[in-house]
Amino acid sequence: MEIAFLLNGETRRVTVENPLESVLDWLSATGLSGTKEGCNEGDCGACTVIVTDENGPRAVNACLMMLPQLAGKALRTVEGVAGPQGQLHPVQQAMVDHHGSQCGFCTPGFITSLAAAHTNRRADYDDLLAGNLCRCTGYAPIIRAAEAAAEAAVPDWMQGDLTFDFAQLATGAAGQTAFLPQTVDELADWYETHPEATLIAGGTDVALWVTKQLRDLPEVAFLNQCKDLAQIQETETGYDIGAGVTIAALRAWAAGPHPALADLLRRFASEQVRQVATIGGNIANGSPIGDGPPALIALGATLTLRRGHSRRRLPLEDFFLDYRKQDQLPGEFVESVSVPKSAPDLACYKLSKRFDQDISSVCGCFNITAKSSKIETARVAFGGLAGVPKRATAFETALIGQPLTEDSFASALPALTQDFTPMSDMRASAAYRMNAAQAMALRYIRACGGEAVSVLEVTP
Ligand SMILES: Cc1cc2nc3c(=O)[nH]c(=O)nc-3n(C[C@H](O)[C@H](O)[C@H](O)COP(=O)(O)OP(=O)(O)OC[C@H]3O[C@@H](n4cnc5c(N)ncnc54)[C@H](O)[C@@H]3O)c2cc1C
Ligand code: FES
Ligand code: FES
Repeated sequence: MEIAFLLNGETRRVTVENPLESVLDWLSATGLSGTKEGCNEGDCGACTVIVTDENGPRAVNACLMMLPQLAGKALRTVEGVAGPQGQLHPVQQAMVDHHGSQCGFCTPGFITSLAAAHTNRRADYDDLLAGNLCRCTGYAPIIRAAEAAAEAAVPDWMQGDLTFDFAQLATGAAGQTAFLPQTVDELADWYETHPEATLIAGGTDVALWVTKQLRDLPEVAFLNQCKDLAQIQETETGYDIGAGVTIAALRAWAAGPHPALADLLRRFASEQVRQVATIGGNIANGSPIGDGPPALIALGATLTLRRGHSRRRLPLEDFFLDYRKQDQLPGEFVESVSVPKSAPDLACYKLSKRFDQDISSVCGCFNITAKSSKIETARVAFGGLAGVPKRATAFETALIGQPLTEDSFASALPALTQDFTPMSDMRASAAYRMNAAQAMALRYIRACGGEAVSVLEVTP
């Protein structure tokens, strides 16, 4: 397969021998070794590069991105952040001025993350840099540098990527083992006749199958060219969210109708991962500890699955049959997930070992409504308590009809042990998980009473 993209401002046409090759490995082989490999699994940010398309520039992890995902886009590495005559970018100069670096490993990733933020005029540095680890300089000088550079103009050489006519770059021809569908219809037709193939949306899970588990994927389709899979459409009753919508786009959108979901997604992985990971991949991977499904199940989401021209819809909770076993036929894929227009009572709590950039040990989502102070409806779902993301139906039943009080919740807590028999693993013991889930229920009812329950709000 041949693909074209801009590399530091120059058009490159590349014959892709191995569609599973990571952008990081390709850059090293090409001699652009400024992009570093730290963890090779999306955790450290040393490999951060900037990818730009019609949606603007964003920082992403080169270790999680496969070469065909670059087709038709602009890639800027740390080498291209400085000007053609070696002029330093304002964030590079500020990092020097503010002593923002000690080692050469994490620094290129900080520079690219900060350069993307600078172009986007973003200043939420705590969020932006949560996926860039520094274990020596400390973050204070780095954030001082970012603040110092914030007002400087975006350099000319960075502007080229923003104004480039991406339509010039034909997006690449299909190879024998990799397909780059341009529309959902193309994907549906192809996948129906290639049901053994692996779909790669953001690739933030699949990349690790390749780099860490050394799995061979004989046939793949990359979904990131399907613009019609990445739309959020308003309907009469709610919103249809395309499977290709990234977590970053979902978070930005959710801040309006579903702020509790947006807050949860702020803690989903890192900026770099959120920019490519999709909600479809988060659902389809069937992980019992994914953050999207418990929140969507609590919202009452419906999944649309598509095979060829036929579609079927099912409540999201029914999609998850057993550990990593989903109700999905060969050749069938997740097309969209539908959620109601609003759910002002939704609350989501994520418990993980680190606040940022960590998978949940337990994720609890509550959507409980009351009338005349009596609980009328309850949709409560947890991740991390079973082999699948799952509703707490016994707990919900124990609550319905009861007064919306802490006593009612305390009486209903034992029902959670009927709903779930958690497992112990390296993230948490079974007892801790159950304890945490019950504590989340109490946290919810205390929040209903106006208590501050987020670590971002609680003060000593
Ligand atoms: C460093 C790091 C941190 C992470 N942190 C979190 C976190 O905090 N919370 C969390 O929930 N997850 C986290 N993840 C996991 C991962 O990022 C998410 O599950 C993500 O949403 C997967 O989406 P993707 O588009 O990258 O999926 P991909 O890797 O492209 O695909 C995942 C699976 O879904 C299938 N698939 C993808 N799209 C479709 C579709 N439309 N229809 C059918 N099948 C499809 C693929 O074939 C594959 O089996 C993290 C991952 C990394 C590497
Ligand atoms: S090498 Fe660590 S995030 Fe890519
Ligand atoms: S400067 Fe590299 S770890 Fe901090």
